[in-house]
Amino acid sequence: MAALGEVDVIVSEVGPRDGLQSVRRAMPTEVKHRWIAALAAAGIREIEVGSFVSPKLLPQMADAEEVVREAVKIDGLTVLALAPNLKGAERGIAAGVHKLSFPVSASREHSMANIRMTPEQAIEQVRQAVELCNSVPQESRPHVEVGISTAFGCAVEGRISEDWVMQIAAALAEAGAESIGLSDTAGCANPVQVKRMFLRLRREIGGKAGAAHFHNTRGQGLANVVAALDAGVDTFDASLGGLGGCPYAPGATGNIVTEDLVFLLESMGLRTGIDLERLIAARALILEGLPGEPLYGNVPDAGLPEGFCYAAAGGNK
Ligand code: COA
Ligand code: ZN
Repeated sequence: MAALGEVDVIVSEVGPRDGLQSVRRAMPTEVKHRWIAALAAAGIREIEVGSFVSPKLLPQMADAEEVVREAVKIDGLTVLALAPNLKGAERGIAAGVHKLSFPVSASREHSMANIRMTPEQAIEQVRQAVELCNSVPQESRPHVEVGISTAFGCAVEGRISEDWVMQIAAALAEAGAESIGLSDTAGCANPVQVKRMFLRLRREIGGKAGAAHFHNTRGQGLANVVAALDAGVDTFDASLGGLGGCPYAPGATGNIVTEDLVFLLESMGLRTGIDLERLIAARALILEGLPGEPLYGNVPDAGLPEGFCYAAAGGNK
């Protein structure tokens, strides 16, 4: 596993992007600011704070500039935003994001429904976005990351060829993307497949192999995390309260629950740098901004067990 300073695993919070994009109502911008600050204060080091997409399609993301500008003021926080195209990349660069994440879908049908581009066109956008970023002065140049959506299967197309996913990953690496991860957008992955594909991803693109992004649609999320850990993955997306889904992936539910993920990792002796009690308390901000929104998570419901021990203090191995 890569050396990451004081943490063994990076938990990348995607609730303000993946979570909120699936909620029709918009969370007030001012509450987003406080929610993101509370997540960072709980020890989260990386947050995908929004997306630079068409505000006509997703009005709840229309304040992405403001949210990024506020979030980058938080010391030590890596601020990510999703961009589907060059216009999104330009907006992200102007707002000062640290990382731009591009959704490139392995499923042709999902790709067309989501961003109205073929996978090949989406790869070309990434190439151009990398060129654009390279023209920006070093200190304000964002990293370009990609999560390959529907990498484990598609709600519309069904099975997706693993060879095709690896071809996409190799093309993205060649196009200059710095990190390429695999996303289970439809929530249909299983641990055997996850381990096999992440091991293969590392063989194909080496150090550019990136994060795991799992949805818990069929309850397999945390089992998939354990399998990805076995394959050497050290960055996991998750959303507080399991908020989330994809508006263009029918039936997709929320991401894996950040609180449950942190509990799993810390119990297994892997340091996340996150304080679970403060993390659970941050759920109140979601409910303040979106009253009545359903939140998920077993650890917040059950509480921490008696004698729970963080990894830094030995874990519960
Ligand atoms: N930010 C803001 N506005 C944008 C934009 C961006 N990144 N990209 C395009 N637009 C605007 C254009 O300016 C144009 O505006 P106009 O109608 O006022 O002239 C309009 O959107 C259509 O532009 P076009 O380039 O033809 O885009 P499109 O209609 O083919 O849509 C996307 C393509 C990518 C912009 C759109 O499908 C999208 O935003 N998808 C994201 C969906 C998403 O977030 N899914 C979940 C993430 S996995
Ligand atoms: Zn997702």
